[in-house]
Amino acid sequence: MTTLENIPSYLDQTPDVAARFQRLVERPVALEVKGLTKRFESSRGAITALDNLSFNVHKREFTCVIGPSGCGKSTLVRILAGLETATSGEVLVDGKAVSGPSPNRGMVFQGYTLFPWLSVKENVMFGPRVTGTSSVTAEREARQWIDLVGLGKFENAYPHQLSGGMKQRVAIARALANQPRVLFMDEPFGALDAQTRCEMQNYLLDIWKNVDITIVFITHDLDEAVFLSDRILVLDANPGRFREMVQVPVPRPRHNDQLFEPTFGATRKHIENLIHPPGREQKEAPVLRIAKPDPDVI
Ligand SMILES: Nc1ncnc2c1ncn2[C@@H]1O[C@H](COP(=O)(O)OP(=O)(O)OP(=O)(O)O)[C@@H](O)[C@H]1O
Ligand SMILES: [Mg+2]
Repeated sequence: MTTLENIPSYLDQTPDVAARFQRLVERPVALEVKGLTKRFESSRGAITALDNLSFNVHKREFTCVIGPSGCGKSTLVRILAGLETATSGEVLVDGKAVSGPSPNRGMVFQGYTLFPWLSVKENVMFGPRVTGTSSVTAEREARQWIDLVGLGKFENAYPHQLSGGMKQRVAIARALANQPRVLFMDEPFGALDAQTRCEMQNYLLDIWKNVDITIVFITHDLDEAVFLSDRILVLDANPGRFREMVQVPVPRPRHNDQLFEPTFGATRKHIENLIHPPGREQKEAPVLRIAKPDPDVI
C-alpha cells in the first residue's frame, strides 16, 4: 500500500531515466556558475542576496530554479543574463566569462515586455535588426520563429490585440530570434491563468525539443518545475544558498496525466520538504476576527 512514508521510494530512477541523466551529464557544460555572491547595499544595511552559489547546466538541459520568495532567484538570473554584476564569483557560458548582456543569452520576464507600438513581426525582428541583420533576412527568420510559437496568423497584430499567453509566446519568439545559446526565463507564466499556463508549458517543451537551446527557468510553482525540468536547483533563503540539485525522475516526453503519477507526486513532495522542512515552525498569521467563531466555518 502507498503511504506517505514510502512515497520517496518513487524517487528511485528507472534504468531509462538513469541512462538519460548519464547522457545529460556527459554533454558539454553550457552554463557554469562558480562561487557567485551578490550583496546589495541599502539604507537598511547590506543584504546578501546570493552566497557562494555554484552549479552547472549542461547543453540542452532544462533546469528550473525554485526557492522561497526573496531567496535571490531574480537576482541570480539577472546576473546570469549579464544585466547585473556579481559581488564575487564567476559565470561562464560555453566557457566564456559573462561580463554584460549579449545576444547569446536570451531573457523572458514575467511582465509583458513587448514594444506596444510594433507589430508581432516587428517585435521579433527587433533584436536581429539591431545587431545588423538585413531587413529581408530578419523578416524571413522572424516568420519562422512566429510559426514555431504557433502565431503565424498574428504576425501583423499589435500586442494589445493579443491574450497574455500569446504575448508571452511572442516574447519567447523575440528572445529566440537572437539565436541565444541559453534562454533565461524569470516566472514567464506567473501572470497567466492555470489553463493557459498549462498550455504554455506544453508549448515551451515543444519549442525546447525543436530548437538547440539550454533553458534556465525560474518558478514558484512546484508542479511547473517538475513538469518542465531535467533537474531542479533548490535554493535556501536569507541568504540565497545552494540547497540541492534534484534530478527529476519523471520520464520524457512529458504529458499532463503524469501529474497524477506517484513519481511526479514524490518529486514534488521532496522539493516541498526542502523548501518548507517538516517541523520547522511556520510564522503564525495575525488573527483579525470580525465575526463570532462558528464551528461550521473553519
Ligand atoms: N536592487 C536591489 N537593491 C537592494 N536589495 C535588492 C535589490 N534587488 C534585490 N534585492 C534583495 O535581494 C533579495 C533577493 O531578491 P530577488 O528579487 O532576487 O528574490 P526572488 O527570489 O526573485 O523573490 P521572488 O520569489 O519574490 O520573486 C531580497 O532580499 C531583495 O530585497
Ligand atoms: Mg523574483
